[in-house]
Amino acid sequence: MCGIVAYIGHRQAYPVIIKGLKRLEYRGYDSAGVALLNHGLKLYKKKGKVAALEEITVGKDLDGHIGIGHTRWATHGEPSDRNAHPHQSSNGKLAMIHNGIIENYAALKSELIKKGYVFHSDTDTEVLLNFIEDIQKNNGGTLEEALRIALKRVVGAYVVVLIDKDNPDTLIAARKGSPLVIGIGKNEHFLASDASPIIEYTKEVVYVNDYQIAIIKSDELILKNLGNERQTPFIQKLDLELAAIEKGGYDHFMLKEIFEQPDTIRDCLRGRLDVQQCTITMAGIQNNIEQIKNANRILIVACGTSWHAGLIAEYIIEELCRIPVEVEYASEFRYRNPIIHKGDMIIAISQSGETADTLVAIEKAKEQGAVILGIVNVVGSSISRISHAGAYTHAGPEIGVASTKAFTAQLTVLAMVALKIAKERETISHDRYLHLLEELNDLPEKVSHILARAEHIKNVALKYKDVINALYLGRGYNFPVALEGALKLKEISYIHAEGYPAAEMKHGPIALVDESLPVIFVATKDAYHEKIVSNIQEIKARKGKVIAVITEGDETITGMADDILPVPEADEVIAPVISVIPLQLFSYYIGIAKGYDVDKPRNLAKSVTVE
Ligand code: AGP
Ligand code: GLU
Repeated sequence: MCGIVAYIGHRQAYPVIIKGLKRLEYRGYDSAGVALLNHGLKLYKKKGKVAALEEITVGKDLDGHIGIGHTRWATHGEPSDRNAHPHQSSNGKLAMIHNGIIENYAALKSELIKKGYVFHSDTDTEVLLNFIEDIQKNNGGTLEEALRIALKRVVGAYVVVLIDKDNPDTLIAARKGSPLVIGIGKNEHFLASDASPIIEYTKEVVYVNDYQIAIIKSDELILKNLGNERQTPFIQKLDLELAAIEKGGYDHFMLKEIFEQPDTIRDCLRGRLDVQQCTITMAGIQNNIEQIKNANRILIVACGTSWHAGLIAEYIIEELCRIPVEVEYASEFRYRNPIIHKGDMIIAISQSGETADTLVAIEKAKEQGAVILGIVNVVGSSISRISHAGAYTHAGPEIGVASTKAFTAQLTVLAMVALKIAKERETISHDRYLHLLEELNDLPEKVSHILARAEHIKNVALKYKDVINALYLGRGYNFPVALEGALKLKEISYIHAEGYPAAEMKHGPIALVDESLPVIFVATKDAYHEKIVSNIQEIKARKGKVIAVITEGDETITGMADDILPVPEADEVIAPVISVIPLQLFSYYIGIAKGYDVDKPRNLAKSVTVE
């Protein structure tokens, strides 16, 4: 998720931390805070930019050689001063920052409330902190021991850093799933989410592994596992420049975010999908499930890539839930004086949660009595706030203007919503339900498998970098994927590309086909496979070039296509998450080959907050 910085050593901690937080601003965040220890614990935090945090610390006591700082990307509790980190424990002795998601925070919170704990924020972080305090209070041991016990009960992803009024010479940190780097200085140590806040002070770093705890003094670093066994820190020399560090070693944010997708899909499923229990838990829609399952009609409103996610959701919901679905461009819907019946449900899909067309569309629908379900990435954004219910996609900040990881996260959430509704309406057999849960569970591995073949995809893409036009064709669930692939190519390489239902080709687009036109088929194995094979034959007969996204082992299309982009087998309901990955990379590599700014393509904005 977002950013942490901590310091212990001979310098004043505050300037190191603030500068470090600014180094991490590129990761996107909604609030920031700092805690310092000298003659006691001082804590300053504020919604908004790091500059807003600096403003509230003017004239305040900022003395101290040990401190922790945080930039928050909200997952539990909207962006606000009270939800910003660091959080302080109930007894006032501990302060903690956290990146990640504590999945079982609700159960822990109810246990603590029964014990009389009072919470001052809506975050999962504060729950973990008071859980640690409670263990230390009951066991009477050290903070380190309490943290170790607590983390054995925690389910989720975290990096946490704590300071303790009773031990002002020690930082304690732990990680699982979220990144933590420790910079080794002379009588000083630096902690951060990546090396960018550290590199100007030292190039000697330790990358902390999952399930490790670090006990850090200015002149000592101890690493242990959760079994309390000492572990030897592996010190590495940084050889990356600052710009490369910010992109996690990738050349561009877009590439980094494409490669983050196994993790972001895992984050999306985290705390929701339980294959063993055969359940999908979505707190954000549970309270409205009766209205949602009894909806007469579902209208999906969105723009751009999110609109493509809506089209795929239409196929999924109609197949699994048997509720009629209509997908609308938000920009058309809002001006069309649409007919909204009471009992209609609107699904608004938006990465930013601030797209003006989508926002106004659902405001109008809400006025006419529709139930609004928001599928949004940015917690606390406008669309999430005006929705009656919703589910966050937990894809983390998406910096690249072209949406990639947010799209696959949207599809993953929408599949879970559809499965939840279908289960409630009993329109899905137990076997199919369980099969699709398993398919969702397998997604991260399958996406990783495709990413491992990026070099092959790059080689294919470079063959077509100079084309002028391209046609993307697909059927069924893969038709919207064809639209998304075409949009990615347009956005990133400025090549004109159109997506079409494959069967529509004979109603006009086939006139375009000649040896200069590449036709990209999204042709993974599904009910339409035979039909799409015929469509490929029609293109080949007219000397068109065929590039096909295929299911691995599909010898039929392999024998026909000029180039193939194989992906693992997947159920057609889930397949779009798989089949879009090669198309994301295809457009990325062509855009790079043409020397374009793939992170900030010309004329585009990350969030279109104007009409
Ligand atoms: C997608 O690559 C584009 N950046 C754009 O089409 C985007 O999907 C659209 O503007 C909608 O944005 P939203 O998801 O934030 O509402
Ligand atoms: N889940 C925590 C919160 O919502 C941490 C979010 C983050 O990683 O910034 O406050």
